[in-house]
Amino acid sequence: MNRIPIILDGDPGHDDAIAWVLANASPALEIKAVTTCCGNQTIEKTTYNAQRICTLIDLHVPTAKGRRRPLVSEPIIAPTVHGESGLDGPALPEPDFELVPMTAVELMAKVLRESEEPVTLVPTGPLTNVAALLIAHPELKANIRQISLMGGGVQYGNWTPAAEFNILVDPEAAKIVFESGIPIIMAGLDVTEKALIKPYDFERIRAVGNPVAKVVAEWLDFFYQFHIKMGYEGAPVHDAVAVAALIHPEIMDMKELYVEVETEGDFCKGATIADFRGSKGKAPNAKVIMGIDRDAFADLLVEAAKAYGEVTK
Ligand code: RIB
Ligand code: CA
Repeated sequence: MNRIPIILDGDPGHDDAIAWVLANASPALEIKAVTTCCGNQTIEKTTYNAQRICTLIDLHVPTAKGRRRPLVSEPIIAPTVHGESGLDGPALPEPDFELVPMTAVELMAKVLRESEEPVTLVPTGPLTNVAALLIAHPELKANIRQISLMGGGVQYGNWTPAAEFNILVDPEAAKIVFESGIPIIMAGLDVTEKALIKPYDFERIRAVGNPVAKVVAEWLDFFYQFHIKMGYEGAPVHDAVAVAALIHPEIMDMKELYVEVETEGDFCKGATIADFRGSKGKAPNAKVIMGIDRDAFADLLVEAAKAYGEVTK
């Protein structure tokens, strides 16, 4: 099987962490590098979390710290969702590797230059690093196969009524990415709020029994605490959908749409506006995921947990 070379860029974050567990377990993907961005927590915390996650799942690839703040906007963090550490809940190992001595943009550019084939970017946080890469190295656009991102929502937001968190944190970066001409798979709230991992799925994962499975179950326990108060039937594991879209697109419904990002306004800053009627006369710039087979998605996470070893009772 030809493995898809990818770069994981995120702001772990419980759902980023689970997305990385899924990616690392998939034989269809080859993770070339990991980069971090500020979003759920400060860049220092998301980077420390990234190193701990990668240590836990034995993902030892070049890893670099990203920009400490969005391109233009003031940082927004989400301690109410992910806790003060950005990854509250289970104890994690201390990092067993050092970051590479370069920025996230420099590492992304290096991987793109050295790869024998175009690379897929999988950003699951604000798009700050990806936009900075496109600004600094426009010549490397052709080395990017596609961008499978978690962000946005063409019907509603979650951090404001109009905007989803990742886009709102850095709308200028998102605008650059959506206008780049690079093929985009957009896992927005339209699908991720349907990608609910339910308490009985937590127990299926916990029952796998290996150390990674136990931590994933405890990440879900913690992540769900925020959502249960809002009446969710499960934890929306937003970021893992951006990974699942690469390995099992057949469990999803995607719609090719022209999407633009609002960077101004008191009410709609950070909104991702899809042109369903084609009234702008522009070619689609994104495959927007609108639906998912929830049970199949949950099974994907259970199977990924098993990839880290099945513990016989
Ligand atoms: O809105 C959900 C997104 O914001 C997810 O990527 C989550 O990790 C946070 O970054
Ligand atoms: Ca994230």
